[in-house]
Amino acid sequence: MTKTTRHVAFAAGIGLALTATAGNADVIKVGVVAPFSGPFAVYGQEFRGAIDTWVAQHGKMAGSHEVQFIFKDSGGPNPAAAKSATQELLIRDGVKYLAGYVFTPNALAAAPLASKAHVPTVIWNAATSIITTKSPEFIRTSFTLPQAAMPMADWAIAHGIKSVVIAVSDYGPGIDADKAFAKEFTAKGGTILDEIRMPVNTTDFSPFMQRIKSKAPNALFSFIPAGPPAFSFVKSYSDYGLKAAGIKFLGTGDLVDETELQGIGDAGIGVITAHHYSVAHDSAANKAFLAAFQKAAPNVTPNFAAVGAYDGMRVLYKMIEAGGTDGAKALKSVIGTSWESPRGPVTIDPRTRSLTQNMYIREVVKGADGKLENKEIDTIKDVPDLGLVSK
Ligand code: PHB
Repeated sequence: MTKTTRHVAFAAGIGLALTATAGNADVIKVGVVAPFSGPFAVYGQEFRGAIDTWVAQHGKMAGSHEVQFIFKDSGGPNPAAAKSATQELLIRDGVKYLAGYVFTPNALAAAPLASKAHVPTVIWNAATSIITTKSPEFIRTSFTLPQAAMPMADWAIAHGIKSVVIAVSDYGPGIDADKAFAKEFTAKGGTILDEIRMPVNTTDFSPFMQRIKSKAPNALFSFIPAGPPAFSFVKSYSDYGLKAAGIKFLGTGDLVDETELQGIGDAGIGVITAHHYSVAHDSAANKAFLAAFQKAAPNVTPNFAAVGAYDGMRVLYKMIEAGGTDGAKALKSVIGTSWESPRGPVTIDPRTRSLTQNMYIREVVKGADGKLENKEIDTIKDVPDLGLVSK
């Protein structure tokens, strides 16, 4: 796909350009930085699907302003690419809002630019706690790793798990997940037998699987960003006999997101994860979201990234309606607000500018239709970003 695509094409020629300028005087541009190519391109599809769903439901106008999206491809975790994409959007395209950002290093690379330009930025996915402290312009509509990992540790203790090996991707969110799980689990009497950090881009997990198995823990706890590595990791857990050895698999929901679940197959059954969204979440708001998404993006299986973007669209529209090009006014209009998301009730916590939301403990099971799903088996209500604040 081309590096830059626009929903609205500008007219060429002087006469037309003058008309177009007058007609588009009230167009507000939003730059979306995400992977649209490479192994993590599924995120770009989720984001586009969410934008199309929101626009199909609410139109192109936010109050009196027409909203135009400009997409830039960052590929996977690549701060240099994210930085230049963000710079181009701000300087060449004149965007008044930024959105997207799947990977922590990419969001961190955008922080000083958003701050300098005073451009409100909605992080739709990147999930290391520290991100929102790096720019006062940042609001996050996804989740954070401590928010998921600490309830997972509590659940493990409550269910008789006494020893764990932690294995995470070796970068921001993996380190957050590792530290938060270990802190909570050991504080409540559990033992960590080993902490393994794995390269972000690896899909060969055989040495790690041998190492985990040799420690014979009650359970494995893991975070790997959703995508091909997570898929291989869950498959390897079964292929290398950890499942057969009775080692329970605990993690964050990134490991078993719905785009990968059917492909993972029976190897995934019984995996327990903590996360903020399951497609199987039973609510009217989620049913309405899924039906609208299916209509707007029939070729995309929605997952947690789609919901992060869909809620991100709500926040963008509200900001644009209330603030227009006045970024400070825009931010003020949404911080502290609450709504019913497809995931459940959420609030933008003024302390962290991340969401306070329910965390769900989910188990991969075969549903009534024979398809695998993340069945919610426990709900921990109103969890803030535990990486920055306690309850
Ligand atoms: C991140 O880099 O912050 C990140 C990426 C993918 C996930 C979660 C977090 O699934």
